[in-house]
Order: sequence, then C-alpha cells, then structure tokens
Amino acid sequence: MTASEVLTLRRPDDFHLHVRDGQALAAVVPFTAARFARALIMPNLRPPVRTVAEASAYRERIRAARPADSRFEPLMSLYLTHHTAPEEIELARRHGGILGCKLYPAGATTHSDAGVTDIRALDAVLERMQETGLTLQVHGEVTDPQVDVFDREARFIDQVLAPLTERFAHLRIVFEHITTRAAVQFVLGARAGVAATVTPQHLLMNRNALFTGGIRPHHYCLPVLKSEVDREALCAAVASGTPRLFLGTDSAPHARTAKESACGCAGIFSAHAALELYAEAFEALGALAHLEAFAAHHGADFYGLARNEGHIRLVKSHWTVPERYPFGTEELVPLRAGERIGWRLETVAHA
Ligand code: NCD
Ligand code: ZN
Repeated sequence: MTASEVLTLRRPDDFHLHVRDGQALAAVVPFTAARFARALIMPNLRPPVRTVAEASAYRERIRAARPADSRFEPLMSLYLTHHTAPEEIELARRHGGILGCKLYPAGATTHSDAGVTDIRALDAVLERMQETGLTLQVHGEVTDPQVDVFDREARFIDQVLAPLTERFAHLRIVFEHITTRAAVQFVLGARAGVAATVTPQHLLMNRNALFTGGIRPHHYCLPVLKSEVDREALCAAVASGTPRLFLGTDSAPHARTAKESACGCAGIFSAHAALELYAEAFEALGALAHLEAFAAHHGADFYGLARNEGHIRLVKSHWTVPERYPFGTEELVPLRAGERIGWRLETVAHA
C-alpha cells in the first residue's frame, strides 16, 4: 500500500456530540470511542444536564458504555437555563471535566424547550464564565417563527452573537455547527477567543440533499443544510487550515421511526463513520494535509487541553455503510445508509 492510500493522524477529538442515555447511549458510544480520544457531550437530555452533579453522573454512565479496553474520555457541558446559578459555574470550573455551558435558544432544536428566551437574563452567569475561563457553546439560531428557517443563523449573528462577543469581550465562545457563509465570515473576523465547529454533513451536502427524489428525513438536522454557496464557504474555510475551525460532528441519533414520521425530528447520525466522512470532504477539497489539525489540534488548543497521544489510521478503501444499526429496542439509520464511503478506519472491522 502506498503512503497516499493511508492517512495517519494524531488521535482526534469530537467537540460536539450527542449520545443520549440508557440503551441508546450504549448503542452509539462505541462508534465514537473507536475513533476519538475525547468528545464534548451535549447536555440536551430530558430533563437536561444542568448541574455539575448531573454532568458527573451522566459522565459516569457514558464511561460505563465504553468498550472494555477503551480509554475514551467524555467531556461535559452544562445546559444553561434561566435557573442556572452563577455558583454552579464555579463548581464546574473546579470539576475539571466540564468545558463549558451550552446555550440553546428555547425552541431552536431537539430538546431545547428548557433553553433560554432572553440572553440578557444570563448576564451574571456569563460574567462568571468569563472570569473562570469556561467556554460558552452556542446553538446559533434565532427562534422567531417569522424568520425564514434558512436565515436563522445569519440573523442570530446580528441580533445575539455579535453584541454578545462585544459585551463579554473575554468570554470564550464556540459557535457550534456553523452552516453559512455569514457564520464563516463572522468567525474568521471575530476577536480572539471565538471559534466554531463544523459538521461533516454541512461540508458534504447542501439543501438539495433534503429533496433528492423525495423528502429525505435522514438528511434533516438543525441548523438545516444550506445553499451551495454556504457549503462552499465552509469548505474554503476548513481547507485554508484556519485554527478558528475544528471538528464537531453533531452526530445526533434518533430512532428510525422518529425520523421517518409526518413530523420527523432533527438530527443526523454520523458517529459510525465520522472521521471517514471528514476525510472524504477534505480529500475532495485537496486539503487532506489540513485534516489532522482540524481534527486533533485546533479544538484541543482552543480549549487549553493537551493534544492526544497516539494515532489512528484511515485507509483509502471503499466500504458500504449498513442500512441500519441497533439502537436499544429501536433501530438507527446512519448517514450514507446502504451507500459507499471512500475511507475506512484501519482498526475497525466493518461488515
Ligand atoms: C440535535 C439533537 O438531536 O439533539 N439535533 C440536530 O439536528 N443537530 C440538537 C442540535 O444540536 O441542534
Ligand atoms: Zn448538536
């Protein structure tokens, strides 16, 4: 095998991941543990993970779902509500395994109904986060039903995020799963301490993928896929190697029946092939040389974490993604179900 057919990367981190709880948790954690050393786990359970005590208990449940020999480490984020106490921030800082707090505008996405309706009501909490160095992870969409769904991210930048970055000039902020040219421009031009995660689906697909031959519920996530112009802006930015952008899959598993429904819920499951999908995207951009930094350096550096020891290898060889994976008593339809992916993780056997 020639060198160009094998990619050796420092073991990466996934800085935006949903793993759910219970049997669903047990079904999905091994996929991430096979690829990543660490992942930042999103707190949108029902009820949400709001306190250090809840995050610690959830972290232990995730650890217990790892394969026996795994050294995968979950990192945690607290779900901000109007009841979050500034003292909780202090506790979170001392905990060590909690990287920050997640801001869900109420109603913006799956399990966000306990989220925030007025960010100004959180000033005392944000002040404490700024002092302690905890990071604010932001779901950046306005929720006004009058605003076109494709404009909600851009509108959020103007109405909420830009003023916030100025009012809290030292708060560390990650604009999660950015999807638009406007978001790329904002992040690249922002003050120090502002960065963003980018998912594989927003690099690989535009909104046409929602309607190819019919409605495609498994391509529906939030923020929703955007135009080709937006996708190209995301691609150009990651291909530039900017340290402002890093890997966060937003892998968000839902039971097949909840997706294939008259009102299908938002979330794309990509953990089964997360790195392989990014490799495809970077390869198509002629930017494979920047994949390692995107996946294993920029996020760790932003969060002030040591880069991981150890490596993983991706082999350039096709495999066909299963139509379904088990998901507790249900089943899960992964991204690219029944279709081919051009890269394979060397250490994992695929049927
Ligand atoms: C996520 C989920 O299902 O928890 N869904 C999604 O479409 N990305 C929530 C989120 O990150 O917005
Ligand atoms: Zn998410």
